[in-house]
Amino acid sequence: MKPSSPIPVAVLGATGTVGQRFIALLDKHPWFKVVALVSSEKNAGKRYAEAVHWLLPSSIPDWAKGMVLKSATPEAVGEAVIAFSALPSDVARELEPKLAERGIWVCSNASAFRREPDVPILLPEVNAEHISVLEHQRRKRGWKGGIVTNSNCTSAGLTVALKALDKAFGLRKVFVVSMQAVSGAGYPGVASLDILGNVIPYINGEEAKVEWEPRKMLGSVEDGVIRLADFVVSAHANRVPVVDGHLVIISMAMRNPPKNAEEAIAAMEKYAPPEIARGLPSTPTPVILVRREADRPQPRLDAATGGGMTTVVGRVRPDPIWDLKFVVVSHNTIRGAAGGAIYNAELLVSQVL
Ligand SMILES: NC(=O)c1ccc[n+]([C@@H]2O[C@H](COP(=O)([O-])OP(=O)(O)OC[C@H]3O[C@@H](n4cnc5c(N)ncnc54)[C@H](OP(=O)(O)O)[C@@H]3O)[C@@H](O)[C@H]2O)c1
Repeated sequence: MKPSSPIPVAVLGATGTVGQRFIALLDKHPWFKVVALVSSEKNAGKRYAEAVHWLLPSSIPDWAKGMVLKSATPEAVGEAVIAFSALPSDVARELEPKLAERGIWVCSNASAFRREPDVPILLPEVNAEHISVLEHQRRKRGWKGGIVTNSNCTSAGLTVALKALDKAFGLRKVFVVSMQAVSGAGYPGVASLDILGNVIPYINGEEAKVEWEPRKMLGSVEDGVIRLADFVVSAHANRVPVVDGHLVIISMAMRNPPKNAEEAIAAMEKYAPPEIARGLPSTPTPVILVRREADRPQPRLDAATGGGMTTVVGRVRPDPIWDLKFVVVSHNTIRGAAGGAIYNAELLVSQVL
């Protein structure tokens, strides 16, 4: 399955919060070699180490420090076969189709194309088979490459847990309250005076994404496009003074509810990814970790589980209004962004390229 030589890739939005995660996660990646970095016009022409305001505890990898940033044009990716996009959505909407037209495979974090029925929102451990819509996408749009997206960061871990429970018991209604880390807002993101010692009960556009994207990811492929799954989600999105890791509180009603919490825990613990999503370099191990302590999961203690790719669940218990309630923690810039896009690219390489 491993490619015979490293596959050249580009990182678009390389200086941002997600872009930096890409640089850190692609350092020593067994399949990929970064050949181009793209930023906004204000940093184009500068060396990466000069332009970036580095936020991660690991150092900037030596190979990245001297790379010269390019502005966001279709030519900027050079000989890259895959472009990892961490661009603002409006920039992604313009650039990503031009890249796909030129034969580049775009693995995007941006929301620009998530609503298109022929563009998958991939979580390989959940819906790897949605990759099949690429054939229809490329034919319909006349692209030599293609676009796959990952979900917004809150929907990622949430949907992994929902998938395991949907498979076992069938979902009907899901009520979600998120407590989202500040790194989810990019850099500089939310002003410190707004968020320190505070909670902001509003994140622009987030609730609509969390109410819709899980339904697409758990949907089915029919005639080359994705049909939404038949359940409803109600979401409340909050920004909290946490650096990394989104915590999501969930209550749900099911079609065939489990008899008790242990049955729901067993369904999540035994959940296995589809065959084609197993054994890739970024496959989460385990996919879901259920913590039994009364006060876990917590973002600071649990978001980095499994290198930030594992979905951590806890406090699984009966819900007196509906059937079940529990808590999920997931790393927003790893599973919910750069790590997720890299996993998507690994699936593309093993199934399509
Ligand atoms: N943060 C998360 O947890 C998360 C999770 C999932 C998805 N996302 C999505 O991922 C994308 C990036 O988010 P982020 O949090 O990394 O944002 P960010 O920290 O604000 O970084 C934005 C990046 O885009 C570049 N950029 C800005 N304007 C540009 C332009 N006109 N042309 C070309 N490049 C431009 C910036 O370059 P300069 O440094 O040169 O300005 C920077 O590299 C967004 O679409 C976001 O919604 C983020």
